[in-house]
Amino acid sequence: MKQNKNILIVNGPNLNLLGTREIEIYGHLSLLDLLEKLEKEAKKLNFKLQHLQSNAEHVLIDTIHASKNKIDYIIINPAAFTHTSIAIRDALISVDIPFIEVHISNIYSRENFRSHSWLSDISKGVISGLGVDGYIWALKTIFNRIGKI
Ligand code: DQA
Repeated sequence: MKQNKNILIVNGPNLNLLGTREIEIYGHLSLLDLLEKLEKEAKKLNFKLQHLQSNAEHVLIDTIHASKNKIDYIIINPAAFTHTSIAIRDALISVDIPFIEVHISNIYSRENFRSHSWLSDISKGVISGLGVDGYIWALKTIFNRIGKI
């Protein structure tokens, strides 16, 4: 019998405002709507989903630490911490859990400071600019990589 994999979705600062924040960039879907979509997809793929959104760097770090030996794969949209947080980078390295970095917007087509990520080079891959579908593609990729084991 195929094992249920545990996937953690981590969303960083201001993503609690999805659906009301800069709609022309981030779209109309709320975080709750997004989570419903992800739950539906996760069910199809036989994944168990956990989710955390926080505006506080230390909460994101504590959650990553707590995932060690419990979570098989992480999907993280670190939001603005992408461009600033060596601490989140170190946390991901220290737990040694594979992760995919997701951005709703195309960070390479915006202000220059968004083009640098402290996480991309240690990630399994980066999805940027596909809207909230990026999270779904990340789930499908994880399924192709470890879902059938
Ligand atoms: C973001 C891009 C970041 O530059 C920005 O700070 C965010 C969201 C995205 O999903 O496109 O808050 O990570």
